Amino acid sequence: MIQSVHFTFFSPSGKTRRTLQNIASGIQGTPIVEKDMTLPAQRAVETEFDENTLVVIGMPVYFGRVPHVFHAGLPLRGRNTPAVYVAVYGNRDYEDALIEMQNLGEQAGFISIAAAACVAEHSLCPSIAANRPDGDDAAKQRAFGEQILKRANAISEKTERLSPLKVKGNVPYREYGTLPVPVMDKNLCIECGLCASICPAGAIARGTFEVNAAACLSCTRCIKACPAGAWGLEETAKQAAAEKMAHLAKLCAERREPEFFWA
Ligand SMILES: Cc1cc2nc3c(=O)[nH]c(=O)nc-3n(C[C@H](O)[C@H](O)[C@H](O)COP(=O)(O)O)c2cc1C
Repeated sequence: MIQSVHFTFFSPSGKTRRTLQNIASGIQGTPIVEKDMTLPAQRAVETEFDENTLVVIGMPVYFGRVPHVFHAGLPLRGRNTPAVYVAVYGNRDYEDALIEMQNLGEQAGFISIAAAACVAEHSLCPSIAANRPDGDDAAKQRAFGEQILKRANAISEKTERLSPLKVKGNVPYREYGTLPVPVMDKNLCIECGLCASICPAGAIARGTFEVNAAACLSCTRCIKACPAGAWGLEETAKQAAAEKMAHLAKLCAERREPEFFWA
């Protein structure tokens, strides 16, 4: 019998978290725990789960993959723990992200019972899938939440059998991409240190505010959060990014719907 449902997520712009909260709204009568793993300190200690916990793992899709901070593994450990994977993407495509999440989950000792690919507002180009997840998405995600708990309980009580989970995606995974790294204007910086403390990759040095380009996720959290507007892209990179986003917006105009997969 499932005694609690843990929702664990990486969510620099908050949409993956929102999607998981929508799924959680479908869970009735079983305690829910939310565990944020967006910051390096939140990923520093491995969290262990037993077979009576259902774990829902949510991540945004970056370049058709999981964010690079998870390529080496999850900071989670299952002990025959049922798991559900939720890939949240900006209405372009999720390519190999969901299969990568499933493989990471199974390598960490989880038993895959279901997965979802859900659309949310594109964090690099908010006109794509603007304001999603919307009411329609929320209703589907809530129903999914109800179903995953039922399925996890049926599997745990052996009234239903588990078959292998088959999600979309390919192995080997597609090559991970890169985007320009943000730069900070020292004339505008008020040295509050917020950027360094909220960087999900720990890529901004406290004190000097230098960016470790190899670690940077290009999530743009520093740009959006800076109260002084000190973070941005270099002028040439800004121009190129604006053109790329305009092209992407045209390419991704057609609404994509959430997809659900069952084991
Ligand atoms: C670096 C980067 C790469 C992205 N790559 C993709 C992608 O390959 N496909 C897609 O549809 N959306 C892509 N997105 C959009 C995010 O997947 C989407 O906005 C997601 O909702 C962000 O989750 P969050 O709000 O929890 O941070 C990308 C966003 C960033 C920052």
